[in-house]
Amino acid sequence: MSINQSVNQSTGQLTIGLFGFGVVGKGLYDVLHTTPTLQASIKKICIKNAGKKRSIPAENFTTEAALLLNDESINVIVELIDDADAAYHIVKTALQKGKAVVSANKKMIAEHFEELLQLQQENNTAFLYEAACCASMPIVRNLEEYYDNDLLKSIRGIINGSTNFILTKIFEEELEFREALTLAQQAGFAESNPKLDVGGFDAANKLSILLAHSFGVIAKPREFLFNGIENISRPDAVVAGEKKYSIKLVANAKKLESGKLAAFVLPQFVTPKDDLYHVQNEFNALTTESSFADTHFFKGKGAGAFPTASAVLSDISALRYNYKYEYKKIHHRTDTQLSTDYYLKVFISTDDLAKIRKEDFEWIEEWHNGFKQSWLVAVIHAGKLFHTGWWKQEGVSLILCPEPIIENIDYRKVSKRSLELAGVI
Ligand SMILES: NC(=O)c1ccc[n+]([C@@H]2O[C@H](COP(=O)([O-])OP(=O)(O)OC[C@H]3O[C@@H](n4cnc5c(N)ncnc54)[C@H](OP(=O)(O)O)[C@@H]3O)[C@@H](O)[C@H]2O)c1
Repeated sequence: MSINQSVNQSTGQLTIGLFGFGVVGKGLYDVLHTTPTLQASIKKICIKNAGKKRSIPAENFTTEAALLLNDESINVIVELIDDADAAYHIVKTALQKGKAVVSANKKMIAEHFEELLQLQQENNTAFLYEAACCASMPIVRNLEEYYDNDLLKSIRGIINGSTNFILTKIFEEELEFREALTLAQQAGFAESNPKLDVGGFDAANKLSILLAHSFGVIAKPREFLFNGIENISRPDAVVAGEKKYSIKLVANAKKLESGKLAAFVLPQFVTPKDDLYHVQNEFNALTTESSFADTHFFKGKGAGAFPTASAVLSDISALRYNYKYEYKKIHHRTDTQLSTDYYLKVFISTDDLAKIRKEDFEWIEEWHNGFKQSWLVAVIHAGKLFHTGWWKQEGVSLILCPEPIIENIDYRKVSKRSLELAGVI
């Protein structure tokens, strides 16, 4: 009898081995203690530093992972640590031992998606990770269960709470980037390694997971375009303000007319008419577009102890009725592939025009030469961005324009003439 079956056939009691007692782990501990009806109890907590001062008695803790993983009375492992490599070994071992697993570790899941999928199948175990994508916002199960693959046209949203918090502080309170990042860290919104957030890696990991549940596409972040917000400068915020825009880090996956999928995470100008414009601080949001329902807009807290713990709790609760992701879209997929064969309308600013590869643009629509900062608005093939890195270097900032995707092939015909008119060639 597998552990999962024993969860199902017994009184439903879930005995948890918890890894991590940081922002989310402690949040889960507190939330569980105010939800006694769940019939779930934490038997032991594995942490890294034995000497750290804790808010609960020392006998709750161990630094021996094996103590939890080898304990047959523990039927659920909840993995909430900040080390993706260690998390991978914990989750893999737990699944191999037939334990159900709940995790919030998007980096680990995105890196090992295919293997984790296989482990679930081989061991007939549940592996749930709602908190890994947009924390409190219930999006993974919605994409998995509600939307039929053929009907979903696009998903688009803000899926990283700390960068949204930082951008909000830069725009609303005119804070400098560093000050805003420190505030995000103090509030427990940022990853232990902030580069994961501000470099766009965290949002890319989440988009990687969302692609599987929305379109049945398994793709690692290196297979699509992404960047973070590190290079966004105050002059960019000034230009955005003049145009009545805000800047958001936006994840996008859209079915193209070719049937292929455009996917990217990039900073974007958003207008007040865009729902994302009004998503502030650590909130996340996602718009789904489908053939018949038109659009749905989800919004919820994308970081923080209790919001993230609430999604972990929901997964734990789902184990009570033996819920598993079926990965329907992966198994029934019509071989949807990622593509970079489309164009993007971009705003690019720089402290040195020599850093810009003008020959990469199809055409340039606006050009402003400044003493310290110059900027332009242009159209570029997404493949050119994907295969080059000049636009990510220090002193260059690339921000998508509103409605940035251009598919129409006819644009190619006018591009050369537009470049001529702009005096570029
Ligand atoms: N914070 C958020 O808002 C948020 C939102 C969504 C998802 N997440 C995800 O949730 C996970 C936890 O994030 P967090 O913010 O709670 O991190 P955190 O506050 O830095 O806490 C990390 C915890 O992991 C423990 N740990 C690290 N390596 C370990 C190992 N090898 N074995 C056992 N324990 C280990 C640490 O132990 P010590 O206490 O001994 O140092 C600490 O308790 C991450 O995957 C993160 O991406 C976080």
